[in-house]
Amino acid sequence: MVSLDKLIDLKKLPKHVAIIMDGNGRWAKKQMLPRIIGHNNGVKTVKKIVELTRKLNIQVLTLYAFSTENWQRPEDEVSAIMALLKTYLKSELATMIKNGISFRVIGDISKMSKEIQEELKKVIDKTKYMKGLVLNVALNYGSRQEILRACKNLIDKGIKNPTEQDFSDSLYTKGLPDPDLLIRTSGEKRLSNFLLWQIAYTEIYVTKTLWPDFTEEDFYKAIIDYQKRDRRFGGL
Ligand code: IPE
Ligand code: IPE
Ligand code: MG
Repeated sequence: MVSLDKLIDLKKLPKHVAIIMDGNGRWAKKQMLPRIIGHNNGVKTVKKIVELTRKLNIQVLTLYAFSTENWQRPEDEVSAIMALLKTYLKSELATMIKNGISFRVIGDISKMSKEIQEELKKVIDKTKYMKGLVLNVALNYGSRQEILRACKNLIDKGIKNPTEQDFSDSLYTKGLPDPDLLIRTSGEKRLSNFLLWQIAYTEIYVTKTLWPDFTEEDFYKAIIDYQKRDRRFGGL
């Protein structure tokens, strides 16, 4: 069998890949395990996919980790996810620095615990001059909240007749290219309040594979599929 990495065109890689990492709960349920074990295993996938995107020289990887709606989940699940996030930040900082990864966050982190905010600020600060992959993690992120915030920013700046560029510059994703490819795992064909402005012309790839089962091969499949698309942007 030809390995999938031979089938991708390295000259036509997406600059920015965004992923809705879904299906941790169902993965755990299938094996009669608590949902948090699914999230634990989801973190393992995160590490694999971050490493792969870095090796492929993709510029930006945006991961949807926690939505503004996810606070509605049971408190023990929310706090377990927060604990996992903290462990991830502590354990990955050295690797990020070694690998030139610049860590960023999109979303309103002021609603998160002081401890997590401090940890996030530390990792953001220590990796901000890194020149490699931009790892952009969506935390307490909701696209509607982001859009409202952008409107308020524009009002505060006194911009009465904003251009599309002014608007983009008021979003959390300021300065980043729009995603070329959006991957959603676990089969759901919806956006769940993710990057609504930014994905106007993004190619969408949905796979039934649950996030903890998502492998490098699956990522290659998504890229291969993306590379077959005819991106017209409204033209001919
Ligand atoms: C995605 O997995 C992770 C988060 C939303 C934090 P889910 O927890 O949504 O898993 P399912 O959709 O219940 O399987
Ligand atoms: C989207 O997944 C949010 C994240 C992956 C963090 P959800 O599981 O929260 O979305 P819905 O509820 O299926 O729309
Ligand atoms: Mg889900």
